Amino acid sequence: MNIGFYCGYINEICNFFYGGADLKKVSLEINGKKVAKEIPDHTLLSVLLRDILNLTGTHVGCDTSQCGACVVHIDGKSVKSCTVFAADLKGSKITTIEGLAKNGKMHPMQEAFKKLHGLQCGFCTPGMVMSAVDLLKNKKNPSDKEIRDWLEGNICRCTGYQNIVAAVKEAASKM
Ligand code: FES
Ligand code: FES
Repeated sequence: MNIGFYCGYINEICNFFYGGADLKKVSLEINGKKVAKEIPDHTLLSVLLRDILNLTGTHVGCDTSQCGACVVHIDGKSVKSCTVFAADLKGSKITTIEGLAKNGKMHPMQEAFKKLHGLQCGFCTPGMVMSAVDLLKNKKNPSDKEIRDWLEGNICRCTGYQNIVAAVKEAASKM
């Protein structure tokens, strides 16, 4: 059983119950920058990003691998960052929502979400966008059904999904 999974991002609670943790050195590339840190071995990637590196664009909505708000790219593939131990990712390239814009210009997926109102409160949006970008790497012009199937692991409680699907199609037409 995966203790870190249940302990979530509250490392102190894990330490209390499990008597502390081994420290591990982890070297990653995050949004194009080299990062080296010594962290407890049970540190989730979502915790490293948000609580240690202050990259709070990655959201945590459930910590139980259901909502998809925490999706980032690990070596180009979309992954729920609350399901991965950062210490297991030595040398990986991580992209978060903060790393998607280039030279101050939003990624076409971000532009499309903005243009077509693919968000309301915005809590799910970083994960939605990161998942959708990965979809378009695999499928250039996905159908509505393919978009909905791909985003099955990303929950939005505001939009009803219609505008999200429209935004992904708009981005597909621009990429
Ligand atoms: S916070 Fe990771 S899936 Fe909900
Ligand atoms: S925009 Fe609010 S949860 Fe999706």
